[in-house]
Amino acid sequence: MSSMPTNNKPLLNWVNDWQTILQPKDVHWCDGSKEEYDQLAQKLVDSGTFTKLDEAKRPNSYLAQSDPADVARVEERTFICSATPEEAGPTNNWRDPQEMQATMKDMLTGSMAGRTMYIVPFSMGPLGSDIAHIGVQLTDSAYVAASMRTMTRMGQPALDVLGETGEWVPCVHSVGAPLAEGQQDVPWPCNSDNKYIVHFPETKEIMSYGSGYGGNALLGKKCFALRIASTMAKKDGWLAEHMLIIGVTNPDGEKKYVAAAFPSACGKTNMAMLIPSLPGWKVETIGDDIAWMKFGDDGQLYAINPEAGFFGVAPGTSQKTNPNAMATLEENCVFTNVALTPDGDVWWEDMTDETPAQLTDWRGNPWTPEADTPAAHPNARFAAPAAQCPSISSEWDDPKGVPISAILFGGRRASNVPLITEAKNWQHGVFLGSIISSEKTAAATGNLGQVRFDPFAMLPFCGYNMADYFQHWLNIGEASDASKLPKMFWVNWFRRDENGSFMWPGFGENARILDWVFDRVDGKGNVEETAIGNIPTAGDINVDGLGLEPAVMENLLAVDNASWKQEVDLITEHYARFGDALPVELADELKKLEQAIS
Ligand code: OXD
Ligand code: MN
Repeated sequence: MSSMPTNNKPLLNWVNDWQTILQPKDVHWCDGSKEEYDQLAQKLVDSGTFTKLDEAKRPNSYLAQSDPADVARVEERTFICSATPEEAGPTNNWRDPQEMQATMKDMLTGSMAGRTMYIVPFSMGPLGSDIAHIGVQLTDSAYVAASMRTMTRMGQPALDVLGETGEWVPCVHSVGAPLAEGQQDVPWPCNSDNKYIVHFPETKEIMSYGSGYGGNALLGKKCFALRIASTMAKKDGWLAEHMLIIGVTNPDGEKKYVAAAFPSACGKTNMAMLIPSLPGWKVETIGDDIAWMKFGDDGQLYAINPEAGFFGVAPGTSQKTNPNAMATLEENCVFTNVALTPDGDVWWEDMTDETPAQLTDWRGNPWTPEADTPAAHPNARFAAPAAQCPSISSEWDDPKGVPISAILFGGRRASNVPLITEAKNWQHGVFLGSIISSEKTAAATGNLGQVRFDPFAMLPFCGYNMADYFQHWLNIGEASDASKLPKMFWVNWFRRDENGSFMWPGFGENARILDWVFDRVDGKGNVEETAIGNIPTAGDINVDGLGLEPAVMENLLAVDNASWKQEVDLITEHYARFGDALPVELADELKKLEQAIS
């Protein structure tokens, strides 16, 4: 036992038990070192999973091409196995925990045959932070082990925090492709038609089978930091949220911290790295996807980013849309399912104004601009270390976290939803968070473009009944000093005019919205009360130099009672799913809205 990297007996026993079930050929405890990462990467190059990119163009970076049957999160194969279906709620796939334990043990038995089992200890959040938690993932994917080093604080330091008695969230992952003696491996092993992403909230266990991609396989992210953490947060009075975190400094040098919840692939990474168009303003990045928030002794809500890297959507990322991301991607990155240029670099749709004449597409086939399929998969991703982002805040690794002054909710909505709406109070803010909706994107398999309600951007990520989740948010408000709670806002950068064109320029110009949020937090600025909340009065958003017609701004902020009647019908239907479990406060808010528009 002395050669083991930890003296945590329960952990050693757990690893032993699983090793017996999974039957790997070898076992490797990840220490998180650079040498180890390089060895994993070399192994992945040798097995054909990674292509090393040109060292001069993209140092220490790799392209991975997945199996075409393993390209996104699989929500219909994602299960919450709480004791009762009511605890999982109507928006999750529930399975009986005992039955699912048996199913998973069956499937996982021998599933690592012929492969190495990597033992990946990791901290979600700055090492030793009161808000952070430790997980340990067993995986038979070297791609996952390597990615976990980028995406989390992985290796020996996490084991050291755990110590002899610390608790961890147990995560078991197998690509579900055991190798028989002498069987040749494929570059992207997975189990195309048998995927299970399984959560057991009572025991905080995660088991994932059949996929090697993103949120299905890097279990610290969606499975732990959102689904399991949301159940821990409910129990212990904190918040685990699908939110970016930024620090915003105004021209007077005052700094405030803002968290924002947008559904997957709706621009969280862009906003997290925003370069303000307004002179004198500065935005610093703390996180681009997940926020864990706890109340400090001073009654303020403090947030940490539990992750250590960015797993962002590549297509659409460019010098124009997100120069900070482009700089972050210059080295030490893994790109998955983007296209390869003839000179050994990466490319994706809208990365450059000019499309390269020749590429290898994400499936490994020759590609030219005449092709009728995209060169990069729409859900192609980069994994990049957060620390190398030019806009990273010096506080991003602070164990204490940052005090949040404002929370934004948003989605992609072509109509109805104004550019910005301020909640009237906490309860109304929870109402707004509960009714946000968005057009479906490529981040999950399913119908693109269709509008779906995505409350708090947590629909695919809440580990328990969303009605109880709404109640948890209400309770947090009840239990807190209202003057110290963040102010809540609803934003929509994606409203379109009658010709279908976006009305708001977005990106760096969103600083103008942050400017208004800043004012409102300080008790300044002017609002007009509407049925859905407070919107800025005409002229209260700084549009200097934007060249936006006043009529466009009016349309951006318009609340049309007639079309809101239809919206209310949709909300009524959305709420009906929760039956009696829906908090009365929210039913009351809906009633008030209905009255206000009639
Ligand atoms: C993500 C997602 O990967 O939300 O962040 O899908
Ligand atoms: Mn996300």
